[in-house]
Amino acid sequence: GRRGYVRDYQCLRRLFSSARCSQVDISLLRTARSDYDGGESSKEKCNKSRYKNIGFILSGIGLTLAFCDAPYFPKEKRFFRAAQYGNIPDLKRSLAEGVDVDTRHPLGWTGLQCAAINGKTEAVRFLIKNGADVNAGDEFVNVYKTAMEKGLHSMEVLTKREEEFSDRLNNRATFKGFTALHYAVLADSIACVKALIDAGANPTIENDTGHRAVEYARDDEIKELLIKQAAIHDEVTREKEAEERRRFPLEQRLKQHIVGQEGPISVVASTIRRKENGWIDEEHPLVFLFLGSSGIGKTELAKQLAAYIHKNKPDGFIRLDMSEFQEKHEVAKLIGAPPGYVGHDDGGQLTKLLRKKPEAVVLFDEVDKAHPDVLTVLLQLFDE
Ligand SMILES: Nc1ncnc2c1ncn2[C@@H]1O[C@H](COP(=O)(O)OP(=O)(O)O)[C@@H](O)[C@H]1O
Ligand SMILES: [Mg+2]
Repeated sequence: GRRGYVRDYQCLRRLFSSARCSQVDISLLRTARSDYDGGESSKEKCNKSRYKNIGFILSGIGLTLAFCDAPYFPKEKRFFRAAQYGNIPDLKRSLAEGVDVDTRHPLGWTGLQCAAINGKTEAVRFLIKNGADVNAGDEFVNVYKTAMEKGLHSMEVLTKREEEFSDRLNNRATFKGFTALHYAVLADSIACVKALIDAGANPTIENDTGHRAVEYARDDEIKELLIKQAAIHDEVTREKEAEERRRFPLEQRLKQHIVGQEGPISVVASTIRRKENGWIDEEHPLVFLFLGSSGIGKTELAKQLAAYIHKNKPDGFIRLDMSEFQEKHEVAKLIGAPPGYVGHDDGGQLTKLLRKKPEAVVLFDEVDKAHPDVLTVLLQLFDE
């Protein structure tokens, strides 16, 4: 009883103190607590604060009673607990009882991720041996988002994440898309990292914030290992892609989605191929001007091209409706205000998006409707 309330109160306090600051930095992914290892000392701390906070305990009761458990079966519960503590016999028993090795915790993570963040190498090896997906990403976002998604109280989510996954992570950070490898790196466990790499974990996978596992590494040995492996993976992917292109050239791809228009398709495809083979002018972007009556596939061709180059990543395609730039002064909206003017630091629509993804395909749609001065700026942009 009472212990639970103390804990909830502490969670609540942490939640409130963290809610004030929403900016998240990579270096903040681990909490200060990750520098000493939990065990005895955290228990002592808990005891101390129990007395210190006794006056607040009662106020926590109302909130605590409002919680209810998500449907969560004991078999799975044992599986995740076993992964967390590296309890191989229990893992064996869970799998024998029919728990799927890739089953998700109700809040989104897998057993392998749980074993990795806790540095339980034996458990990591055992789960891999039993077919766990080494490259699966965490579906847990952060305390607030996950609580909202699952319709739970954020305090309950926080408690579960800390007790059933790890209490060494910053509860403000976003963990969506973290693979077991990301977590092994966060746990500074070279043994886990090695076990995962040996099992074919892909070090080039990015989490939802676009970071590879290596970016969280503090240990030089881990860093080196991941960089080396990533280079191998990148090389393999590049070769695979080149092979794929030889077998299935861009023209054919474009023709699958666009009827007719053979001239433009072949010009676009051969120009792109030239660029891929290294015949590029680093100073200038590739620019195509598609002309023709409406509804003949100009926009569609640009979209398909972006889908080809950036594999359907949403930020790989920037569409600007140039009919929004009918006035002379609206140039600033596009490329930002000139130095010295208000809003110079903010940048424009185009500059802001390009800063995020400099190699994106940009479609200036409906250019005929833009003010001529806006077009002049574009010409200068392409020329310099
Ligand atoms: N040549 C084409 N092949 C396949 N679909 C086309 C073609 N032309 C137009 N479409 C279809 O018609 C719609 C309008 O085409 P769009 O590319 O927007 O025309 P516009 O040339 O005016 O930009 C799109 O949904 C597109 O899929
Ligand atoms: Mg169009």
